[in-house]
Amino acid sequence: MKRPFRIAVTGAAGSISNSLLFRLAAGEVFGTDQPIILQLIERSEAMEALRGLAMELEDCAFPLLHAVRLHDNPEDGFRNVHFAFLIGAKPRGPGMERADLLAANAEIFSRQGRALNDHANPDVKVLVVGNPANTNALIASRNAPDLSPSQFTAMSRLDHNRAKGMIANRTGFNTADIRKVAVWGNHSASQFPDVRNAEAMGEPIWPGLDHDWVDNTFIPRVQKRGAEIIDARGQSSAASAAQGAIDHMRDWYMGTPEGDFVSMCIVSDGSYGIAKGIVFSFPVRCRYGRYQIVQGLPIDDAAQKRLDATEKELLEEKDAVKHLLPAETEDAH
Ligand code: NAD
Ligand code: LMR
Repeated sequence: MKRPFRIAVTGAAGSISNSLLFRLAAGEVFGTDQPIILQLIERSEAMEALRGLAMELEDCAFPLLHAVRLHDNPEDGFRNVHFAFLIGAKPRGPGMERADLLAANAEIFSRQGRALNDHANPDVKVLVVGNPANTNALIASRNAPDLSPSQFTAMSRLDHNRAKGMIANRTGFNTADIRKVAVWGNHSASQFPDVRNAEAMGEPIWPGLDHDWVDNTFIPRVQKRGAEIIDARGQSSAASAAQGAIDHMRDWYMGTPEGDFVSMCIVSDGSYGIAKGIVFSFPVRCRYGRYQIVQGLPIDDAAQKRLDATEKELLEEKDAVKHLLPAETEDAH
């Protein structure tokens, strides 16, 4: 019998968590033979709603769900956790850019980084979903000096899945047959969804794609899909974001399929000339709980311009929160 994993989820009473938690408890991330203990974290104002959600989890009688614990602070909530989904944050409303959220959410992630550092299992794997996700992950990582920066990731898997879905629609292939899509950079409108290396049923799709469509329809549509959904629904994506979080953690833990790669925002090691230390989405392969950046993909002038633009935005975000990045750890990262 496997020992339970302890899983922390912040913003546990919110919309994304409402879609995520039941699927986590059903075994969709860590496998159907892996028991879990959920450590759910919310603001004190939302504890009553969280209590209701915990009752529903109990009422599902999930065999893998050993316990559900409720916390109104990250210090208790992160105690001994092996995996942490950092979802809790103020979401963007109509007309707002993700940068508007920087100030509102930055403080949350510095406290959570410290709490992970002091209380989580030393091998904890962290996924930041709350926006602006890349820079929130950077803040959390930099406030956790005893943990490796490689333990902190942010979510671009929703963008990756969006890109795959649109390409499948365009080409008529099933999403399962489409491989080697990549999303580079920030989870924002500056991101670069890249299909130049994509394959369908093992064959390159680039030669058969209308490149005007890629530049003028596909790329801006993926970049602005979050806003398109907010305009239509009046609130930000929830079920598809939960799907992205499930895919991200499952692949990090279980490994990526042979012959494919996925997109994860990770601390840059300088690959592809991207500034070291910012949290940037790269194509990666995962094995045995670790990820490796896929090296050697061709970058032409047009692609380089897109990489430069999204890198620039992340450097500006980093500058805007520099007061929350402890100076003594800066060089080490
Ligand atoms: P929501 O408002 O429905 O839920 C957020 C929850 O977080 C609320 O219940 C709130 O009480 C809680 N919360 C706020 N501050 C907290 C704190 N300090 N500690 C614990 N809980 C806290 O929002 P949502 O739709 O679930 O979205 C959550 C975040 O995810 C937003 O920032 C949103 O922009 C972001 N998001 C990211 C992606 C992505 O692809 N990276 C996709 C969709 C949404
Ligand atoms: C998304 O991409 O749907 C989320 O990041 C929500 C947003 O603010 O765009």
